[in-house]
Amino acid sequence: MHIDLTGTRGHRDAIYRQLRAAILDGRIRPGEALPPTRELAQRLAVSRTTVSAAYDRLTAEGFLAGRVGAGTFVTASALTRRPAPSAVSGVRPLPEWDALPSPPAPFAPAPEFDFRPGVPDLTRFPFDTWRRLVTQRLRAGQADLMTYGDPQGLASLRAEIARHIGVSRDVRASADQVVVTAGAQQTTDLVGRVLLRAGDIAAVEDPGYPPPRLVLAARGVRVAPVPVDASGIVVSAIPPGTRLVYVTPSHQYPLGLSMSLERRLELLDWAERTDAVVVEDDYDTEFRYTGRPLEPLHSLDSRGRVVYVGSFSKVLSPALRLGFLIAPPSLVPALVKARYLTDWHAPNVEQAALAAFMAEGGFARHVRRMRKVYRARHELLSGLLAASFADFLTPLPSSAGLHLSATSSSDLSSLVRRARQDGVRLYSLGDFAVGERRHGLVFGYGAVAAERIGPGLARLRALADEGAA
Ligand SMILES: Cc1ncc(COP(=O)(O)O)c(C=O)c1O
Repeated sequence: MHIDLTGTRGHRDAIYRQLRAAILDGRIRPGEALPPTRELAQRLAVSRTTVSAAYDRLTAEGFLAGRVGAGTFVTASALTRRPAPSAVSGVRPLPEWDALPSPPAPFAPAPEFDFRPGVPDLTRFPFDTWRRLVTQRLRAGQADLMTYGDPQGLASLRAEIARHIGVSRDVRASADQVVVTAGAQQTTDLVGRVLLRAGDIAAVEDPGYPPPRLVLAARGVRVAPVPVDASGIVVSAIPPGTRLVYVTPSHQYPLGLSMSLERRLELLDWAERTDAVVVEDDYDTEFRYTGRPLEPLHSLDSRGRVVYVGSFSKVLSPALRLGFLIAPPSLVPALVKARYLTDWHAPNVEQAALAAFMAEGGFARHVRRMRKVYRARHELLSGLLAASFADFLTPLPSSAGLHLSATSSSDLSSLVRRARQDGVRLYSLGDFAVGERRHGLVFGYGAVAAERIGPGLARLRALADEGAA
Protein backbone atom coordinates (compact mmCIF):
# COMPACT_ATOMS: atom_id res chain seq x y z
CA MET A 1 0.00 0.00 0.00
CA HIS A 2 1.52 3.23 -1.15
CA ILE A 3 1.00 6.29 1.05
CA ASP A 4 2.27 9.59 -0.24
CA LEU A 5 3.07 12.31 2.25
CA THR A 6 4.88 14.69 -0.06
CA GLY A 7 3.62 18.20 0.35
CA THR A 8 1.21 17.29 3.13
CA ARG A 9 1.27 19.10 6.43
CA GLY A 10 -1.00 17.05 8.65
CA HIS A 11 0.63 13.65 8.34
CA ARG A 12 -1.93 11.97 10.57
CA ASP A 13 -4.82 13.20 8.43
CA ALA A 14 -3.09 12.26 5.19
CA ILE A 15 -2.45 8.71 6.40
CA TYR A 16 -6.05 8.44 7.64
CA ARG A 17 -7.54 9.72 4.36
CA GLN A 18 -5.41 7.55 2.09
CA LEU A 19 -6.04 4.36 4.07
CA ARG A 20 -9.77 5.08 4.21
CA ALA A 21 -9.90 5.68 0.45
CA ALA A 22 -7.97 2.46 -0.20
CA ILE A 23 -10.41 0.47 1.95
CA LEU A 24 -13.45 2.06 0.31
CA ASP A 25 -12.34 1.50 -3.26
CA GLY A 26 -11.33 -2.08 -2.52
CA ARG A 27 -7.54 -1.77 -2.84
CA ILE A 28 -7.32 -3.11 0.73
CA ARG A 29 -9.94 -5.78 1.27
CA PRO A 30 -11.82 -6.92 4.39
CA GLY A 31 -9.69 -9.35 6.39
CA GLU A 32 -6.39 -7.93 5.14
CA ALA A 33 -3.82 -6.90 7.75
CA LEU A 34 -2.37 -3.40 7.91
CA PRO A 35 1.35 -3.05 8.53
CA PRO A 36 2.32 -2.72 12.23
CA THR A 37 2.38 0.93 13.32
CA ARG A 38 6.13 0.82 14.00
CA GLU A 39 6.88 -0.49 10.49
CA LEU A 40 4.68 2.03 8.71
CA ALA A 41 6.04 4.87 10.82
CA GLN A 42 9.56 3.90 9.84
CA ARG A 43 8.65 3.61 6.18
CA LEU A 44 7.00 7.04 6.13
CA ALA A 45 9.57 8.65 8.41
CA VAL A 46 6.93 9.88 10.86
CA SER A 47 6.47 9.18 14.53
CA ARG A 48 4.73 6.03 15.62
CA THR A 49 2.11 8.12 17.49
CA THR A 50 1.09 9.73 14.18
CA VAL A 51 0.38 6.35 12.58
CA SER A 52 -1.34 5.04 15.75
CA ALA A 53 -3.62 8.11 15.79
CA ALA A 54 -4.67 7.45 12.17
CA TYR A 55 -5.30 3.75 12.95
CA ASP A 56 -7.28 4.69 16.07
CA ARG A 57 -9.56 6.99 14.13
CA LEU A 58 -10.21 4.32 11.48
CA THR A 59 -10.87 1.80 14.27
CA ALA A 60 -13.32 4.17 15.95
CA GLU A 61 -15.14 4.56 12.64
CA GLY A 62 -15.41 0.79 12.23
CA PHE A 63 -13.00 0.39 9.31
CA LEU A 64 -10.32 -1.39 11.32
CA ALA A 65 -10.23 -3.78 14.25
CA GLY A 66 -7.23 -4.80 16.32
CA ARG A 67 -6.66 -8.37 17.40
CA VAL A 68 -4.34 -8.71 20.35
CA GLY A 69 -1.05 -10.19 19.29
CA ALA A 70 -2.14 -10.50 15.65
CA GLY A 71 -2.26 -6.92 14.37
CA THR A 72 -4.77 -4.55 12.83
CA PHE A 73 -7.23 -5.76 10.17
CA VAL A 74 -9.78 -4.28 7.83
CA THR A 75 -13.24 -5.20 9.17
CA ALA A 76 -15.79 -7.21 7.24
CA SER A 77 -18.26 -4.34 7.45
CA ALA A 78 -15.83 -1.76 6.06
CA LEU A 79 -17.19 -1.97 2.56
CA THR A 80 -20.78 -1.34 3.62
CA ARG A 81 -19.63 2.15 4.48
CA ARG A 82 -18.76 2.80 0.84
CA PRO A 83 -20.86 5.75 -0.33
CA ALA A 84 -23.19 4.98 -3.26
CA PRO A 85 -21.53 6.04 -6.50
CA SER A 86 -22.91 9.32 -7.68
CA ALA A 87 -25.68 8.86 -10.21
CA VAL A 88 -25.04 12.27 -11.66
CA SER A 89 -22.17 12.97 -13.94
CA GLY A 90 -21.36 16.02 -15.95
CA VAL A 91 -20.20 13.87 -18.86
CA ARG A 92 -22.85 13.20 -21.47
CA PRO A 93 -22.59 11.31 -24.77
CA LEU A 94 -23.64 13.02 -27.98
CA PRO A 95 -27.46 13.28 -27.98
CA GLU A 96 -27.81 10.94 -30.99
CA TRP A 97 -26.64 8.08 -28.78
CA ASP A 98 -29.68 8.58 -26.54
CA ALA A 99 -31.87 7.90 -29.57
CA LEU A 100 -30.21 4.54 -30.36
CA PRO A 101 -31.82 1.45 -28.81
CA SER A 102 -30.17 -0.35 -25.90
CA PRO A 103 -28.74 -3.81 -26.59
CA PRO A 104 -30.99 -6.77 -25.78
CA ALA A 105 -30.54 -8.12 -22.26
CA PRO A 106 -27.99 -10.94 -22.31
CA PHE A 107 -28.86 -14.24 -20.66
CA ALA A 108 -32.55 -13.41 -20.25
CA PRO A 109 -34.24 -16.56 -18.95
CA ALA A 110 -35.52 -18.65 -21.86
CA PRO A 111 -39.30 -18.51 -22.17
CA GLU A 112 -41.31 -21.72 -22.27
CA PHE A 113 -41.62 -21.52 -26.06
CA ASP A 114 -38.85 -19.58 -27.77
CA PHE A 115 -39.71 -18.62 -31.37
CA ARG A 116 -37.13 -15.83 -31.50
CA PRO A 117 -35.52 -15.61 -34.94
CA GLY A 118 -31.83 -15.71 -35.74
CA VAL A 119 -30.63 -18.01 -32.95
CA PRO A 120 -29.34 -21.54 -33.60
CA ASP A 121 -29.93 -24.52 -31.32
CA LEU A 122 -27.11 -23.96 -28.87
CA THR A 123 -27.71 -27.25 -27.08
CA ARG A 124 -26.28 -28.86 -30.23
CA PHE A 125 -23.10 -26.81 -30.33
CA PRO A 126 -20.26 -29.36 -30.81
CA PHE A 127 -18.96 -28.80 -27.28
CA ASP A 128 -16.68 -31.87 -27.08
CA THR A 129 -15.06 -31.28 -30.44
CA TRP A 130 -14.61 -27.59 -29.74
CA ARG A 131 -13.01 -28.32 -26.37
CA ARG A 132 -10.60 -30.76 -28.04
CA LEU A 133 -9.70 -28.29 -30.79
CA VAL A 134 -9.11 -25.41 -28.39
CA THR A 135 -7.16 -27.58 -25.95
CA GLN A 136 -4.96 -28.88 -28.76
CA ARG A 137 -4.12 -25.31 -29.78
CA LEU A 138 -3.25 -24.43 -26.19
CA ARG A 139 -1.33 -27.62 -25.54
CA ALA A 140 0.75 -27.22 -28.61
CA GLY A 141 2.41 -24.31 -26.84
CA GLN A 142 1.90 -22.18 -29.90
CA ALA A 143 3.30 -18.94 -28.55
CA ASP A 144 2.66 -17.32 -31.94
CA LEU A 145 -1.09 -17.63 -31.26
CA MET A 146 -0.61 -15.61 -28.09
CA THR A 147 0.84 -12.54 -29.69
CA TYR A 148 -0.86 -9.84 -31.78
CA GLY A 149 -2.36 -11.43 -34.85
CA ASP A 150 -3.18 -10.47 -38.40
CA PRO A 151 -6.06 -7.94 -38.55
CA GLN A 152 -7.19 -9.63 -41.77
CA GLY A 153 -7.58 -12.93 -39.91
CA LEU A 154 -5.51 -16.07 -39.44
CA ALA A 155 -4.24 -17.21 -42.85
CA SER A 156 -5.34 -20.83 -42.26
CA LEU A 157 -8.89 -19.71 -41.41
CA ARG A 158 -9.09 -17.39 -44.42
CA ALA A 159 -8.03 -20.26 -46.67
CA GLU A 160 -10.70 -22.53 -45.17
CA ILE A 161 -13.37 -19.83 -45.54
CA ALA A 162 -12.46 -19.26 -49.19
CA ARG A 163 -12.68 -23.01 -49.81
CA HIS A 164 -15.97 -23.37 -47.89
CA ILE A 165 -17.86 -20.64 -49.72
CA GLY A 166 -16.38 -21.78 -53.01
CA VAL A 167 -17.91 -25.22 -52.46
CA SER A 168 -21.14 -24.28 -50.70
CA ARG A 169 -22.04 -21.01 -52.43
CA ASP A 170 -19.98 -21.01 -55.59
CA VAL A 171 -18.42 -17.74 -54.45
CA ARG A 172 -15.01 -17.62 -56.06
CA ALA A 173 -12.53 -15.73 -53.96
CA SER A 174 -8.96 -16.12 -52.81
CA ALA A 175 -7.93 -16.11 -49.16
CA ASP A 176 -6.45 -12.64 -49.82
CA GLN A 177 -9.96 -11.28 -50.33
CA VAL A 178 -11.25 -12.68 -47.04
CA VAL A 179 -11.30 -10.53 -43.92
CA VAL A 180 -12.27 -12.31 -40.70
CA THR A 181 -14.70 -10.14 -38.72
CA ALA A 182 -16.31 -10.07 -35.30
CA GLY A 183 -19.55 -11.42 -36.76
CA ALA A 184 -21.48 -10.11 -39.73
CA GLN A 185 -22.30 -7.00 -37.76
CA GLN A 186 -18.74 -5.70 -37.88
CA THR A 187 -18.75 -5.82 -41.67
CA THR A 188 -21.22 -2.95 -41.92
CA ASP A 189 -19.07 -0.94 -39.55
CA LEU A 190 -15.82 -1.64 -41.43
CA VAL A 191 -17.31 -1.11 -44.87
CA GLY A 192 -19.04 2.05 -43.63
CA ARG A 193 -15.75 3.39 -42.25
CA VAL A 194 -13.84 3.01 -45.49
CA LEU A 195 -16.59 4.05 -47.90
CA LEU A 196 -18.91 6.54 -46.23
CA ARG A 197 -18.62 9.94 -44.59
CA ALA A 198 -21.13 11.40 -42.16
CA GLY A 199 -24.03 12.70 -44.21
CA ASP A 200 -23.57 10.17 -47.05
CA ILE A 201 -26.58 8.05 -47.96
CA ALA A 202 -26.86 4.29 -47.46
CA ALA A 203 -29.94 2.18 -48.18
CA VAL A 204 -31.29 -0.79 -46.24
CA GLU A 205 -34.20 -3.15 -46.73
CA ASP A 206 -37.48 -2.24 -45.00
CA PRO A 207 -38.48 -4.40 -43.20
CA GLY A 208 -34.95 -5.44 -42.43
CA TYR A 209 -32.33 -6.56 -39.96
CA PRO A 210 -31.91 -3.56 -37.62
CA PRO A 211 -28.17 -3.65 -36.64
CA PRO A 212 -26.66 -2.55 -40.00
CA ARG A 213 -29.05 0.41 -40.13
CA LEU A 214 -28.13 1.39 -36.57
CA VAL A 215 -24.38 0.85 -37.06
CA LEU A 216 -24.41 3.25 -40.02
CA ALA A 217 -26.75 5.75 -38.38
CA ALA A 218 -24.49 5.86 -35.32
CA ARG A 219 -21.68 7.07 -37.58
CA GLY A 220 -23.77 9.91 -38.99
CA VAL A 221 -24.66 8.18 -42.26
CA ARG A 222 -28.13 9.03 -43.57
CA VAL A 223 -29.85 5.66 -43.85
CA ALA A 224 -32.76 5.31 -46.27
CA PRO A 225 -35.20 2.44 -45.64
CA VAL A 226 -36.22 0.99 -49.02
CA PRO A 227 -39.34 -1.19 -49.39
CA VAL A 228 -39.11 -4.88 -50.20
CA ASP A 229 -41.65 -6.62 -52.46
CA ALA A 230 -42.03 -10.30 -53.43
CA SER A 231 -38.91 -10.06 -55.64
CA GLY A 232 -36.66 -8.29 -53.12
CA ILE A 233 -35.56 -4.71 -52.50
CA VAL A 234 -37.34 -2.28 -54.83
CA VAL A 235 -34.33 -0.98 -56.73
CA SER A 236 -36.28 1.89 -58.32
CA ALA A 237 -37.02 3.22 -54.80
CA ILE A 238 -33.34 3.53 -53.79
CA PRO A 239 -32.78 7.29 -53.38
CA PRO A 240 -30.45 9.11 -55.76
CA GLY A 241 -26.99 9.62 -54.31
CA THR A 242 -26.98 6.33 -52.39
CA ARG A 243 -23.41 5.08 -51.97
CA LEU A 244 -24.06 1.70 -50.33
CA VAL A 245 -26.96 -0.71 -50.12
CA TYR A 246 -27.24 -3.54 -47.61
CA VAL A 247 -29.35 -6.56 -48.67
CA THR A 248 -30.13 -10.16 -47.64
CA PRO A 249 -30.85 -11.74 -51.06
CA SER A 250 -30.78 -15.44 -50.17
CA HIS A 251 -33.22 -15.22 -47.29
CA GLN A 252 -34.62 -11.76 -46.77
CA TYR A 253 -34.62 -10.81 -43.12
CA PRO A 254 -37.30 -10.99 -41.80
CA LEU A 255 -39.67 -11.87 -44.67
CA GLY A 256 -37.74 -15.03 -45.61
CA LEU A 257 -38.12 -14.51 -49.37
CA SER A 258 -35.37 -15.01 -51.92
CA MET A 259 -34.47 -12.09 -54.22
CA SER A 260 -35.44 -12.95 -57.83
CA LEU A 261 -32.74 -13.27 -60.47
CA GLU A 262 -34.14 -10.27 -62.38
CA ARG A 263 -33.98 -8.13 -59.25
CA ARG A 264 -30.43 -9.27 -58.52
CA LEU A 265 -29.33 -8.22 -62.00
CA GLU A 266 -31.23 -4.93 -61.71
CA LEU A 267 -29.50 -4.18 -58.39
CA LEU A 268 -26.04 -4.92 -59.81
CA ASP A 269 -26.81 -2.79 -62.82
CA TRP A 270 -27.92 0.06 -60.55
CA ALA A 271 -24.70 -0.25 -58.51
CA GLU A 272 -22.60 -0.10 -61.65
CA ARG A 273 -24.47 2.92 -63.03
CA THR A 274 -24.34 4.86 -59.77
CA ASP A 275 -20.85 3.81 -58.64
CA ALA A 276 -22.28 2.26 -55.46
CA VAL A 277 -21.40 -0.79 -53.37
CA VAL A 278 -23.71 -3.67 -52.48
CA VAL A 279 -23.26 -5.47 -49.17
CA GLU A 280 -24.69 -8.99 -49.57
CA ASP A 281 -25.44 -10.54 -46.18
CA ASP A 282 -25.63 -14.32 -46.72
CA TYR A 283 -26.05 -15.02 -43.02
CA ASP A 284 -27.90 -18.34 -42.93
CA THR A 285 -27.96 -20.03 -46.31
CA GLU A 286 -25.93 -23.00 -45.12
CA PHE A 287 -29.40 -24.21 -44.13
CA ARG A 288 -31.36 -24.66 -47.36
CA TYR A 289 -34.16 -27.21 -47.45
CA THR A 290 -35.63 -27.25 -50.95
CA GLY A 291 -34.56 -26.19 -54.40
CA ARG A 292 -31.30 -24.85 -55.63
CA PRO A 293 -30.25 -21.51 -54.23
CA LEU A 294 -29.99 -18.67 -56.70
CA GLU A 295 -26.49 -17.50 -57.44
CA PRO A 296 -25.23 -14.98 -54.90
CA LEU A 297 -24.89 -11.39 -56.09
CA HIS A 298 -21.17 -11.85 -55.58
CA SER A 299 -21.02 -14.55 -58.26
CA LEU A 300 -23.21 -12.57 -60.67
CA ASP A 301 -21.09 -9.45 -60.23
CA SER A 302 -18.32 -9.08 -62.76
CA ARG A 303 -17.33 -5.55 -61.77
CA GLY A 304 -16.25 -5.88 -58.17
CA ARG A 305 -19.17 -3.98 -56.64
CA VAL A 306 -20.24 -6.57 -54.06
CA VAL A 307 -18.98 -7.21 -50.54
CA TYR A 308 -20.13 -10.70 -49.55
CA VAL A 309 -20.80 -11.30 -45.83
CA GLY A 310 -20.96 -14.58 -43.92
CA SER A 311 -21.32 -15.45 -40.27
CA PHE A 312 -20.52 -18.37 -37.98
CA SER A 313 -23.27 -17.22 -35.61
CA LYS A 314 -25.97 -19.41 -37.16
CA VAL A 315 -23.94 -22.50 -37.94
CA LEU A 316 -22.03 -22.59 -34.65
CA SER A 317 -22.77 -19.91 -32.08
CA PRO A 318 -23.21 -16.14 -31.97
CA ALA A 319 -20.99 -16.09 -28.87
CA LEU A 320 -17.89 -16.86 -30.96
CA ARG A 321 -18.27 -13.44 -32.61
CA LEU A 322 -16.71 -14.75 -35.79
CA GLY A 323 -17.80 -13.91 -39.29
CA PHE A 324 -16.15 -12.87 -42.51
CA LEU A 325 -16.39 -10.66 -45.53
CA ILE A 326 -15.18 -11.19 -49.07
CA ALA A 327 -14.24 -7.88 -50.60
CA PRO A 328 -13.08 -6.73 -54.02
CA PRO A 329 -9.25 -6.56 -53.88
CA SER A 330 -9.41 -2.76 -54.23
CA LEU A 331 -11.09 -2.50 -50.81
CA VAL A 332 -9.12 -5.07 -48.82
CA PRO A 333 -6.15 -2.93 -47.65
CA ALA A 334 -8.44 -0.18 -46.28
CA LEU A 335 -10.72 -2.74 -44.60
CA VAL A 336 -7.73 -4.37 -42.95
CA LYS A 337 -6.56 -0.97 -41.65
CA ALA A 338 -10.08 -0.28 -40.36
CA ARG A 339 -10.13 -3.61 -38.52
CA TYR A 340 -6.67 -2.90 -37.09
CA LEU A 341 -7.77 0.50 -35.84
CA THR A 342 -11.06 -0.78 -34.44
CA ASP A 343 -9.99 -3.76 -32.34
CA TRP A 344 -6.91 -5.14 -34.09
CA HIS A 345 -8.11 -8.69 -34.80
CA ALA A 346 -10.28 -11.65 -33.78
CA PRO A 347 -9.01 -13.96 -30.99
CA ASN A 348 -6.28 -16.19 -32.46
CA VAL A 349 -7.02 -19.40 -30.57
CA GLU A 350 -10.68 -19.46 -31.62
CA GLN A 351 -9.73 -18.71 -35.21
CA ALA A 352 -7.18 -21.53 -35.20
CA ALA A 353 -9.71 -23.94 -33.65
CA LEU A 354 -12.28 -23.03 -36.30
CA ALA A 355 -9.75 -23.42 -39.12
CA ALA A 356 -8.89 -26.92 -37.81
CA PHE A 357 -12.60 -27.79 -37.45
CA MET A 358 -13.15 -26.82 -41.09
CA ALA A 359 -10.00 -28.53 -42.35
CA GLU A 360 -10.81 -31.87 -40.69
CA GLY A 361 -14.35 -31.87 -42.13
CA GLY A 362 -16.15 -31.46 -38.80
CA PHE A 363 -17.66 -28.15 -39.80
CA ALA A 364 -19.26 -29.54 -42.98
CA ARG A 365 -20.58 -32.55 -41.02
CA HIS A 366 -22.05 -30.25 -38.37
CA VAL A 367 -23.79 -28.18 -41.06
CA ARG A 368 -25.26 -31.36 -42.62
CA ARG A 369 -26.46 -32.61 -39.23
CA MET A 370 -28.03 -29.30 -38.28
CA ARG A 371 -29.62 -28.87 -41.70
CA LYS A 372 -31.59 -32.09 -41.06
CA VAL A 373 -32.64 -30.87 -37.62
CA TYR A 374 -33.81 -27.49 -38.89
CA ARG A 375 -35.46 -28.94 -42.00
CA ALA A 376 -37.68 -31.09 -39.75
CA ARG A 377 -38.61 -28.04 -37.67
CA HIS A 378 -39.25 -25.94 -40.79
CA GLU A 379 -41.61 -28.61 -42.19
CA LEU A 380 -43.39 -29.05 -38.88
CA LEU A 381 -43.87 -25.33 -38.38
CA SER A 382 -45.02 -24.72 -41.98
CA GLY A 383 -47.48 -27.63 -41.74
CA LEU A 384 -48.95 -26.47 -38.44
CA LEU A 385 -49.30 -22.87 -39.61
CA ALA A 386 -51.12 -24.02 -42.73
CA ALA A 387 -53.35 -26.40 -40.76
CA SER A 388 -54.24 -24.27 -37.75
CA PHE A 389 -53.68 -20.61 -38.56
CA ALA A 390 -54.95 -20.27 -42.13
CA ASP A 391 -57.81 -18.05 -40.89
CA PHE A 392 -55.46 -15.14 -40.18
CA LEU A 393 -51.89 -16.02 -41.25
CA THR A 394 -50.49 -16.46 -44.75
CA PRO A 395 -46.99 -17.99 -44.60
CA LEU A 396 -44.50 -16.42 -47.00
CA PRO A 397 -42.52 -18.81 -49.19
CA SER A 398 -39.26 -19.68 -47.47
CA SER A 399 -36.90 -22.56 -47.99
CA ALA A 400 -33.83 -21.67 -45.96
CA GLY A 401 -32.48 -20.43 -42.69
CA LEU A 402 -33.77 -20.41 -39.15
CA HIS A 403 -37.03 -18.50 -39.42
CA LEU A 404 -40.13 -18.10 -41.50
CA SER A 405 -42.69 -15.31 -41.60
CA ALA A 406 -46.40 -15.06 -42.20
CA THR A 407 -48.44 -12.01 -43.12
CA SER A 408 -51.83 -11.06 -41.78
CA SER A 409 -54.49 -8.56 -42.70
CA SER A 410 -54.75 -7.21 -39.16
CA ASP A 411 -52.38 -5.83 -36.55
CA LEU A 412 -51.12 -8.64 -34.32
CA SER A 413 -49.05 -6.65 -31.86
CA SER A 414 -51.53 -7.24 -29.04
CA LEU A 415 -51.40 -11.01 -29.71
CA VAL A 416 -47.57 -10.88 -29.63
CA ARG A 417 -47.69 -9.00 -26.34
CA ARG A 418 -50.11 -11.46 -24.75
CA ALA A 419 -48.12 -14.41 -26.09
CA ARG A 420 -44.92 -13.08 -24.54
CA GLN A 421 -46.68 -12.64 -21.21
CA ASP A 422 -47.83 -16.24 -21.51
CA GLY A 423 -44.42 -17.81 -22.21
CA VAL A 424 -44.40 -17.70 -26.04
CA ARG A 425 -41.63 -15.44 -27.33
CA LEU A 426 -42.32 -14.29 -30.84
CA TYR A 427 -41.98 -11.15 -32.93
CA SER A 428 -44.24 -9.25 -35.26
CA LEU A 429 -43.10 -8.15 -38.71
CA GLY A 430 -43.63 -4.59 -37.55
CA ASP A 431 -40.71 -5.00 -35.10
CA PHE A 432 -38.36 -4.92 -38.10
CA ALA A 433 -39.98 -2.07 -40.01
CA VAL A 434 -38.94 1.55 -40.24
CA GLY A 435 -41.61 2.88 -42.59
CA GLU A 436 -44.77 0.97 -43.49
CA ARG A 437 -45.52 -1.63 -40.83
CA ARG A 438 -46.65 -4.82 -42.51
CA HIS A 439 -48.85 -6.99 -40.30
CA GLY A 440 -47.70 -10.50 -39.53
CA LEU A 441 -45.51 -12.71 -37.39
CA VAL A 442 -41.93 -14.01 -37.53
CA PHE A 443 -41.31 -17.55 -36.26
CA GLY A 444 -37.74 -18.55 -35.47
CA TYR A 445 -37.16 -22.29 -35.07
CA GLY A 446 -33.51 -22.40 -34.07
CA ALA A 447 -34.08 -21.97 -30.35
CA VAL A 448 -37.25 -24.06 -30.03
CA ALA A 449 -36.97 -27.87 -29.98
CA ALA A 450 -39.17 -29.77 -32.45
CA GLU A 451 -41.32 -31.22 -29.69
CA ARG A 452 -42.02 -27.71 -28.32
CA ILE A 453 -43.29 -26.32 -31.64
CA GLY A 454 -46.73 -28.00 -31.53
CA PRO A 455 -47.51 -27.09 -27.89
CA GLY A 456 -46.18 -23.53 -28.43
CA LEU A 457 -48.42 -22.99 -31.43
CA ALA A 458 -51.38 -24.51 -29.56
CA ARG A 459 -50.81 -21.91 -26.81
CA LEU A 460 -50.70 -19.17 -29.46
CA ARG A 461 -53.90 -20.49 -31.07
CA ALA A 462 -55.70 -20.42 -27.73
CA LEU A 463 -54.55 -16.85 -27.11
CA ALA A 464 -55.71 -15.79 -30.57
CA ASP A 465 -59.13 -17.40 -29.96
CA GLU A 466 -59.42 -15.72 -26.56
CA GLY A 467 -58.61 -12.37 -28.12
CA ALA A 468 -61.20 -12.88 -30.86
CA ALA A 469 -63.93 -14.01 -28.44
C1 LIG B 1 -29.75 -10.75 -41.25
C2 LIG B 1 -28.70 -11.14 -40.26
N1 LIG B 1 -27.42 -10.96 -40.57
C3 LIG B 1 -26.44 -11.34 -39.75
C4 LIG B 1 -26.72 -11.93 -38.53
C5 LIG B 1 -25.60 -12.44 -37.67
O1 LIG B 1 -24.91 -11.46 -37.15
P1 LIG B 1 -23.51 -11.72 -36.41
O2 LIG B 1 -22.66 -12.53 -37.33
O3 LIG B 1 -23.02 -10.35 -36.18
O4 LIG B 1 -23.83 -12.47 -35.16
C6 LIG B 1 -28.02 -12.10 -38.15
C7 LIG B 1 -28.35 -12.65 -36.82
O5 LIG B 1 -29.45 -12.60 -36.34
C8 LIG B 1 -29.05 -11.73 -39.05
O6 LIG B 1 -30.31 -11.95 -38.74
